[in-house]
Amino acid sequence: MDTTRSLFLPPQGSTVASDVDALFGFIFWISLFFFVGVTALTVYFCIKYKRKDGKGETTPYIESLALEITWIVIPTILLMVIFVWGFQDFIRMHIVPANSMEIKVTGQKWFWSFNYAEGATGVGELVVPVGQPVKLLMSSKDVIHSFFVPAFRIKMDVLPNRYTITWFEATMTGEFEIYCTEFCGKGHSEMWGTVKVLPKDEFAKWLEAGSGPGEGESMKEYGARMFVKNACNTCHSLDGSKNVGPTFQGLFGRREVMSDGTTITVDENYIRESILSPMAKQVVGYDPVMPTYQGILKDVDIDGLIAYIKSLEN
Ligand code: CUA
Repeated sequence: MDTTRSLFLPPQGSTVASDVDALFGFIFWISLFFFVGVTALTVYFCIKYKRKDGKGETTPYIESLALEITWIVIPTILLMVIFVWGFQDFIRMHIVPANSMEIKVTGQKWFWSFNYAEGATGVGELVVPVGQPVKLLMSSKDVIHSFFVPAFRIKMDVLPNRYTITWFEATMTGEFEIYCTEFCGKGHSEMWGTVKVLPKDEFAKWLEAGSGPGEGESMKEYGARMFVKNACNTCHSLDGSKNVGPTFQGLFGRREVMSDGTTITVDENYIRESILSPMAKQVVGYDPVMPTYQGILKDVDIDGLIAYIKSLEN
């Protein structure tokens, strides 16, 4: 049996997960015990004291000081236990260990991006080493999002114009889902990502390598990977259908009418400008909602995307 799994919950992937689950389990079983007990007694009394034969009967009046004290004292003790227990966990989950590695998390419609002190960036995928406390310094570029990693039992709102902080220490390698749990618009349900937990030596290698096409990968294939990894697919279709943004099908070389009435032909420079300064030239009929990828995408990433877009013919 997989001991890291517990009642209704995903695997315990962080140092705080087992504590969170223990308290959750305690509250769950206590609630279930009282729910079943109260329901059973209600049903029993309904049957026992039902008025029979239409005759008026007086229900026996139960008076017991001992009983009253019992049902005041026991729930009070239980609630105090839950409060003290929960408060201790809460404090532990909010005090970031001093030896933490810091990663900047940015939420925006509709993807997550991650910036490391060493300069590496990632979109949609948070890569971390196992057994190392990681501090997440989070903010939003637009509306309120919420960063949730069920396997780590952490969840924290991500707000514009303000930093929020959370931390975790992964206890096992693997991939774990990130969800946005604050309704943030049309793409909310697609605003998910992955935490990839690597052994320490592999993480060091990943940090050094940064990005770029892998061994034997063409720029076009690399661009196809970037298209998904950077969540371009949330707003741009490949089949010609109109989404939040124009479709990428047959985009390269297409004549587009801009919101100011001018017409341009889509070329390398237009694509590059649209990725870095999306507000510079807007295709008519679309809302100005494209986020800038300045500081997120490297030149090699943009080269890959251009190669990929060129390959998407009508
Ligand atoms: Cu971001 Cu929901």
